Amino acid sequence: MKRVSVVTGGAQGIGAAIVRRLAADGDSLVLVDIDAMAAEATAGEIAAAGGTVRVVLGDVSADQTVAEVAETVAGLGRLDVLVNNVGDFRPASKTFGHSTPEQWQRLYEVNLLHVFKMCHALVPRMIEQGHGAVVNVSTVEAFRGIPGHAVYSAYNAGVSAFTKSLAVEVGEHGVRVNAVAPDLTDTPQTSREAMLRGRDPGLLRSWLPLGRFGQPEDFAGVVAFLASPDAGFITGHTIPVDGGTLAASGWYAREDHKGWTNMPNHP
Ligand SMILES: NC(=O)c1ccc[n+]([C@@H]2O[C@H](COP(=O)([O-])OP(=O)(O)OC[C@H]3O[C@@H](n4cnc5c(N)ncnc54)[C@H](O)[C@@H]3O)[C@@H](O)[C@H]2O)c1
Repeated sequence: MKRVSVVTGGAQGIGAAIVRRLAADGDSLVLVDIDAMAAEATAGEIAAAGGTVRVVLGDVSADQTVAEVAETVAGLGRLDVLVNNVGDFRPASKTFGHSTPEQWQRLYEVNLLHVFKMCHALVPRMIEQGHGAVVNVSTVEAFRGIPGHAVYSAYNAGVSAFTKSLAVEVGEHGVRVNAVAPDLTDTPQTSREAMLRGRDPGLLRSWLPLGRFGQPEDFAGVVAFLASPDAGFITGHTIPVDGGTLAASGWYAREDHKGWTNMPNHP
């Protein structure tokens, strides 16, 4: 019998790559997204390739959307994998001092609240079944400071802390909870062009230890692994998928690979 996998934010970027990968692996997908056109395009692609996908449209932080996902899952009769992928650093301000309570509220809704809501609605079914895998999407900024994004970072650190404690709570029921922490991936939210901002792509060698930006498919494989029996003894962890940036925590200031520094303007 086919596994049933729910992926939030599955229309574009990292989420779409996860949807494509899990569908190719034979899962029946529930794709949740706020963007109707992009969701239909990705769902159409999956169906054309012979996959099975149902689309739930709406803001994943809204009760109605969560209820529709739960109804869809109930109709399918099982839930094997839940990927809470939605997250956004916007709305952003130049500094924490310039940010507003309205921005904090929206950052809370799109980065942390929906993870609570989806898990609250769906993990009980996994517990009842005696199996299931949750994979949350956090960010390296949960572990490394970044100016201008203190609130976004705090909520994503919350995603990783929630992942740990929920994993401990539900482990005895056969449910595993893990997360991935991306960095510098070419998606609509953080496109390669926007990240380079006209800089020489050759600089990537000194910026990321693996010398390239991430691609959405880099995450799909890790999520597929975490959701699979091969990861059957892994729970409560956040796996950085970052091309080595957390390990490095610094830069080569010179193109000749000299001048290692954590001060980007080092002479
Ligand atoms: N791209 C990166 O470099 C990077 C770095 C760190 C963390 N992340 C995290 O990875 C995840 C995916 O990022 P991405 O770059 O692929 O994002 P993206 O913005 O390119 O794609 C996000 C998808 O989620 C959908 N979406 C957005 N808000 C939604 C909402 N409220 N309800 C339902 N659907 C919604 C969008 O329509 C889109 O299809 C996010 O949690 C993000 O914070 C990404």
